[in-house]
Amino acid sequence: MISVAIDGPAGAGKSTIAKMAAKRLNFIYVDTGALYRTLGYGAHTGGVDIHNEAELESYLENSRVELKFIDGEQRVLLNGEDVSDKIRTPQMGTAASEISAIPRVREYLLDMQRALARTNNVIMDGRDIGTVVLPNAEVKIFLTASPECRAKRRLEDFRQKGENVDFDEVLRLIVERDYQDSHREIAPLKAAEDSVIVDTSDLSLEQSVEKIISTIEEKK
Ligand code: DC
Repeated sequence: MISVAIDGPAGAGKSTIAKMAAKRLNFIYVDTGALYRTLGYGAHTGGVDIHNEAELESYLENSRVELKFIDGEQRVLLNGEDVSDKIRTPQMGTAASEISAIPRVREYLLDMQRALARTNNVIMDGRDIGTVVLPNAEVKIFLTASPECRAKRRLEDFRQKGENVDFDEVLRLIVERDYQDSHREIAPLKAAEDSVIVDTSDLSLEQSVEKIISTIEEKK
C-alpha cells in the first residue's frame, strides 16, 4: 500500500488538488478535515460544551462518524445522517478548528484514519498526516499559498455556490485559523521534516496537480 500525506493551511487547495491527483492515480482521497468538521457540527448543533470533559466524552461516545466512498467521492455520516454538505461553511471550519485542538478528539479519530491507509492506496489531506497520523507515509507534501491568495480562492468557491461572503471576513477567518491550527499544543500544523514543500500561490490548478503527481511519481 502507498500512502501520500498532504498537509497545509486552510484554503491552500489541498482538497481540490488531492482529489484530482487521486483520481488520476487511482488512489482513494481522504479528507480528514471533514471528520473534525463533522464532530464540530454535531457539537455545535447539539449545544455541547466541548470544554467540559464529561460532556465531551458523552458526546463522543454517542457519536458515530463514518466515511463512505460513493463513486470515488467521500461522504461523511454522523449517526447515519449524511452531513457532507452541511459542514462546508466558514463557521463549521471554525468549529472544527476549535474541537480539533482537544487531544481526546484527535485520539478518537486516529484509528479510523490509520485503518483507511492500511487497506487502501491513499492520498490523505489534513494538518498532521505526515507528522502524526501516517509518519511512515511514502510521500509527504506540505501544500501552501499566501493568505490573500487562499482567501481569494475560498471566496470564489463560495460565490460559485451562490453564497455571498466578504473578502476581508474570509481573510480574517483564514489568518485566525492558521494561527489556531499552528499554535495548538497537540499535533500543530507544521511541515514534516521529510516533506516536499509546494507553494501554489503562483500555480494554476492544473500546474499544482501536475506538480503533486510528479512529486508522488518521483518519491513512491
Ligand atoms: O481542512 P479543513 O478546513 O476542512 O479543516 C477544518 C479544521 O480541522 C482545521 O482548521 C483544523 C482541523 N484539522 C486538524 O486539526 N487536523 C486534520 N488532519 C484536519 C483538519
